[in-house]
Amino acid sequence: MASSRHPRSVLLLLLLLAPLVVAVASAPAFLEEDVVLGVVSAARVGGKGANASTRRPASSGRDVFSVFSGDGRRDDGGGGWKEEIAAMAGRPEMAAWLRRVRRRIHERPELAYEEVETSQLVREELDAMGVGFRYPLARTGVVATIGTGRPPVVALRADMDALPIQELVEWEHKSKNPGKMHACGHDAHVAMLLGAARILKAREHHLKGTVKLLFQPAEESGAGAKRMIDDGALEGVEAIFAVHVSHEHPTSVIGSRTGALLAGCGFFKALIRGGRDPVLTAASAVISLQSLVSREADPLDSQVVSVAVVNSDDGDHGTFALGGTFRAFSNASFYRLRRRIEEVITLQARVHGADAAVDFFEDQSFYPPTVNDARMYGHVKAVATELLGEGRYRDVPPMMGAEDFAFYSQAVPAGFYYVGVRNETLGSVHTGHSPYFMIDEDVLPTGAAVHAAIAERYLALAGALSSSSSGPVEREL
Ligand SMILES: *[C@@H]1O[C@H](CO)[C@@H](O)[C@H](O)[C@H]1NC(C)=O
Ligand SMILES: *[C@@H]1O[C@H](CO)[C@@H](O)[C@H](O)[C@H]1NC(C)=O
Ligand SMILES: *[C@@H]1O[C@H](CO)[C@@H](O)[C@H](O)[C@H]1NC(C)=O
Repeated sequence: MASSRHPRSVLLLLLLLAPLVVAVASAPAFLEEDVVLGVVSAARVGGKGANASTRRPASSGRDVFSVFSGDGRRDDGGGGWKEEIAAMAGRPEMAAWLRRVRRRIHERPELAYEEVETSQLVREELDAMGVGFRYPLARTGVVATIGTGRPPVVALRADMDALPIQELVEWEHKSKNPGKMHACGHDAHVAMLLGAARILKAREHHLKGTVKLLFQPAEESGAGAKRMIDDGALEGVEAIFAVHVSHEHPTSVIGSRTGALLAGCGFFKALIRGGRDPVLTAASAVISLQSLVSREADPLDSQVVSVAVVNSDDGDHGTFALGGTFRAFSNASFYRLRRRIEEVITLQARVHGADAAVDFFEDQSFYPPTVNDARMYGHVKAVATELLGEGRYRDVPPMMGAEDFAFYSQAVPAGFYYVGVRNETLGSVHTGHSPYFMIDEDVLPTGAAVHAAIAERYLALAGALSSSSSGPVEREL
């Protein structure tokens, strides 16, 4: 999730939406190299009427998949998908492989648009599974394809970039790149999406359409999603889903909501020149900016405008710099704030006989709100509940963090959700963007399974889901 570091001091304000992640724990002994996960258990032949007691996934320790509960409320004849996906994801070999992949990525974090090794690892793993892909998109991005090659097409997305943070978690797989860290769980996101690729490849004959897996660069800053779209990542795609780890929920619990889920987030930097008194000019602009939220915004429509930097610009005598951030949950409010910030600063400068220019860093960190389509949200909730059980899904409130997944959610109906990684025993309690951030790696098989199930079930139900699709729901707080 992006928060950003951008104009220097703005940093502090950022609200990290935070996921947190992982695992210090003892490295479970690695099993031997990849085991054949593609082979589906014989039990599934014959499909329906799965006998849960024989399919209980042998997950190391905890039983995450409560495939026993639901009895296929939305059954479309697809029978044992829950049991089969849960069984595959629950194999110890799968968990061990996912952990290895995640740890390799964790050790070699790369910043936005520099995800060279990470991208290569993704391509090697896809090659090993026999999954075809397109590369590069958005410099380091990869789009893999599984299924019939025909419509409908559903997309799943993972982000690959790390943060400019020095890891302070002391463990065997600590970051080996000084000053860089996967402190927002993108390493887990990549591993979970590769896990989904593995499950979906093994179930390719069940897919009633095509799944595109998007591995994108530059989520934290740089708007990688936007460049992926420009490079054709969404061609033919009719719906998209993504998951983010979260320290707010216990390991493997899924959370989401309909409508606005994450705020739109922008930064601004104004340079004020000339005039009679630059200090007074800057002060007037700051005061006027405060009233944008306190006097102009609907108090029930959360918005933020914060001025975080006021500097006399060194090097250019008489120039003042003003910088800050703004957030809003609706697209309309977000763009209104952008317009009003520019008006207030330039017009206040005019009042004082000065000139001002405002930069919104639109190519770097200008992320609109992430809005879940009502039907895609419903799909995430239904699949998570069926696969994991009622107790492992919860509706969550909107958060002020931002995500460049917003660009996809503006283009096609989208469903964004969290998967919990909170585990006090392991110390997995720190928010994203903390140098102590860690995750409970037991989340990885769950994430892979939920991803795969969402895509497979989307294709099975595509007619029903898309024909009645309502388009992005603007703000349903
Ligand atoms: C399911 O499997 C268990 C254990 O093999 C067996 O005792 C039970 O009778 C089976 N149930 C059904 C419905 O086949
Ligand atoms: C958000 O607002 C901008 C500016 O008005 C507009 O260009 C864009 O299409 C809007 N996006 C959505 C999803 O409504
Ligand atoms: C936390 O991790 C430990 C060790 O893996 C596990 O035994 C425990 O069940 C986990 N707790 C939760 C809430 O997931």
